[in-house]
Amino acid sequence: MDSILVRGGAELNGAIPISGAKNACLALMPAALLSEEPLTLTNAPRLSDIRTMTQLLESLGCEVASLQGGRVLVVGTEQISNHTAEYDIVRKMRASILVLGPMLARDGHAVVSLPGGCAIGARPVDLHLRGLEALGATLDLRDGYVHAEARGGLKGAVFEFPFVSVGATENLLMAATLAHGTTVLKNAAREPEIVDLARCLRAMGAEIEGEGTSTIEIQGVERLFGTTHPVVTDRIELGTYMLAPAIAGGDVELLGGRRDLVTAFADKLEETGVEVEQTDTGLRVARRNGRVRAADIVTEPFPGFPTDLQAQMMALMCTADGVSHLEERIFENRFMHAPELTRMGARIEVHGGTATVTGVERLKGAPVMATDLRASVSLILAGLAAEGETVVSRVYHLDRGYEHVEDKLSACGAYIDRISEAAE
Ligand code: EPZ
Repeated sequence: MDSILVRGGAELNGAIPISGAKNACLALMPAALLSEEPLTLTNAPRLSDIRTMTQLLESLGCEVASLQGGRVLVVGTEQISNHTAEYDIVRKMRASILVLGPMLARDGHAVVSLPGGCAIGARPVDLHLRGLEALGATLDLRDGYVHAEARGGLKGAVFEFPFVSVGATENLLMAATLAHGTTVLKNAAREPEIVDLARCLRAMGAEIEGEGTSTIEIQGVERLFGTTHPVVTDRIELGTYMLAPAIAGGDVELLGGRRDLVTAFADKLEETGVEVEQTDTGLRVARRNGRVRAADIVTEPFPGFPTDLQAQMMALMCTADGVSHLEERIFENRFMHAPELTRMGARIEVHGGTATVTGVERLKGAPVMATDLRASVSLILAGLAAEGETVVSRVYHLDRGYEHVEDKLSACGAYIDRISEAAE
């Protein structure tokens, strides 16, 4: 397994290009199951999770062409030749559940393995299933698989989510495009990835209104067509790299970055004393002198502070002046980075869903390890600000969501290197 070595202390100056959003692309790719015509996605990120989704779609009979080194994906589904998403793939990546709605909507049947729990929490898929039942599907849970049927087709309905779920909103949005009649999704997720999916579906011929608000209305259509769609900028990658100059000092422009994708996060960063400026080409972030100030955060669905930036924000708070409270409200077990940051000299106490961080002058490099994607990158960020060397192991988590992290950071002057398995 590869590791990443970071030697702290260097200021960062320069520019970092931000890729297309992993989490948008993972919802857009299954949308190709809804049409016999190919869906072309441009600005796709080159990540292992995208390769896993490719594998899953191929196992269902899709043809996936990866062009321009993976930047462009063409997904063709003339027909779905296998309607079963196997456990072996689904267990690797929870977003696999997103093939359920589209397969069911197009062919009236689908079998998808249940994903099981994961490092950051139990993460059930009950809302996906309840929503599909509301659209008239019959579901049967057997041998760890959901067997779903809607032989006469799905039927439009009103479904109110008891709480916001990004994935369940995506699954139902896709399913409803081919249902008979009108579907209204209430208390729907408002994340930019939902907006991106709705735009793509509309370009494919779907009738959708209200994306980006908590009520989405979908008028079912007979069929959808092919289109070409650019994947929206990855707001979590953007926020992560905004934290790099904040934590290490310096001045970095995040190319392609838009403030509206990260408003709550950018506001918080400014509260700590970091400068954030929208330019014509991206977002510029600078910390010129002194320590940042401590700030409290509470994770919430969009437009609130994203859970996917909580670990990285904690890394910044570890060296802030003062005491901060970070409250995690989306996932019950998303503080695995705290004990690792503590190994680097951070002062963190976790009580239930809240972490209290007392900032220290300087972190100290250490060998660390993380069990999820955002936790891994938070340790790299901490390493940038630490004295000496930090080695982050198990970086396959990182490769799920960050493209060439070492190249992007070293281009701005960070000392960061990948130690590949063969060299260990
Ligand atoms: C998406 O996960 C993202 N993943 C996550 O990104 C992100 O953390 C999360 O949204 C929240 O923003 C993708 O888009 C592929 P949810 P998702 O359904 O859709 C509970 C990353 O690091 N819930 O909004 O799975 C659930 O357990 C990650 O890139 C149910 O109880 O998240 C959680 O507590 C990891 N039943 C909360 O709702 C359900 O049926 C929100 O989950 C569905 C969800």
